[in-house]
Amino acid sequence: MADVYTNPEKHVVLSNNVKLPILGLGTSHDGGYSHEAVVWALRECGYRHIDTAKRYGCETYIAQAVKASGIPREDIFLTTKCWPADYGADTTRKAFIGSCQRLDTEYLDMYLLHWPEVPSGSGDKRQMLRDTWRALEVLLDEERVRVIGVSNFLEQHLDDIIEDCSITPHLNQCEFHPFNNPKHLRQYCKDRSIQFEGYSPLAKGRGLRGPQVVSVARQLGRTPAQVLIRWSLQNNVPCVPKSTKPERVKENSQVFDFVLRKEDMTSLDNMKQTVTCVNRATIQDKIDNPLPDGYKLNLSKVTVEP
Ligand SMILES: NC(=O)c1ccc[n+]([C@@H]2O[C@H](COP(=O)([O-])OP(=O)(O)OC[C@H]3O[C@@H](n4cnc5c(N)ncnc54)[C@H](OP(=O)(O)O)[C@@H]3O)[C@@H](O)[C@H]2O)c1
Repeated sequence: MADVYTNPEKHVVLSNNVKLPILGLGTSHDGGYSHEAVVWALRECGYRHIDTAKRYGCETYIAQAVKASGIPREDIFLTTKCWPADYGADTTRKAFIGSCQRLDTEYLDMYLLHWPEVPSGSGDKRQMLRDTWRALEVLLDEERVRVIGVSNFLEQHLDDIIEDCSITPHLNQCEFHPFNNPKHLRQYCKDRSIQFEGYSPLAKGRGLRGPQVVSVARQLGRTPAQVLIRWSLQNNVPCVPKSTKPERVKENSQVFDFVLRKEDMTSLDNMKQTVTCVNRATIQDKIDNPLPDGYKLNLSKVTVEP
């Protein structure tokens, strides 16, 4: 079994006892997709957790990268997400099956509801989320998926799910970096045994220039990206940095051989909250007026080795 599942520093244990590698690889379509980087991450850098989504349009490519890496499927923690246009009892199930087919897998490690929004005109929003979550509960019961969770859910959305359904989400994935640190939501999740997971840990690259981040990096002889990732991990928040460049994928994985000092953590924990990478206000429009999945991928640049 890979080191990430045996070394307690390299995974978190979810409320249903499943181990989630604390460092994963992001694969959002923003900035493109690199087959080389994903294969390198798996083969040479020890990543065993991949975060993707139907929306990113690269599930098929990830299946090819997993195959090319030679890493056994059961060693890899594979997450994908259900886009709100697919919400609803039957459509969610179909979306799940479609993702499994594209990812060439019999089961998923984690399936997340991508956003708490639902398509306009779909009637009672709460009922729609209830039916959708119920579909995930059934998939869990059938052992088609090991972990079910949500993404971008705020306290009120989680309140509704918890009240309406039988299984509390195992995890909630949200934006998380020192410039956007939702402390109240994290505490809410902790109190209910919902693992909080972070996305955009580098604030899409914008966090790398933060003067405090740069200063800590200089003092420790590390890079700003490593400081930001290490800060997530020391907060016990799994994170999924993305890079299309193999050397950066490697750099981002070298975060288990140093620690941030108490004073570094305190200063980064208390930064001004100045960056929002993903604008919640634009999501409804993206759901209602959909562009194709992976519309930011620039497919002419996606090269997949034979
Ligand atoms: N659930 C959701 O709604 C949601 C939303 C957003 C993201 N996510 C997930 O979270 C993942 C990560 O977030 P993200 O992709 O938005 O942003 P991110 O990981 O915070 O940052 C990625 C950006 O940083 C650059 N970068 C990466 N490593 C670097 C390094 N060591 N030095 C300098 N620059 C570096 C990358 O450019 P290069 O490629 O040129 O290296 C890219 O522009 C996504 O890929 C996705 O899987 C989920």
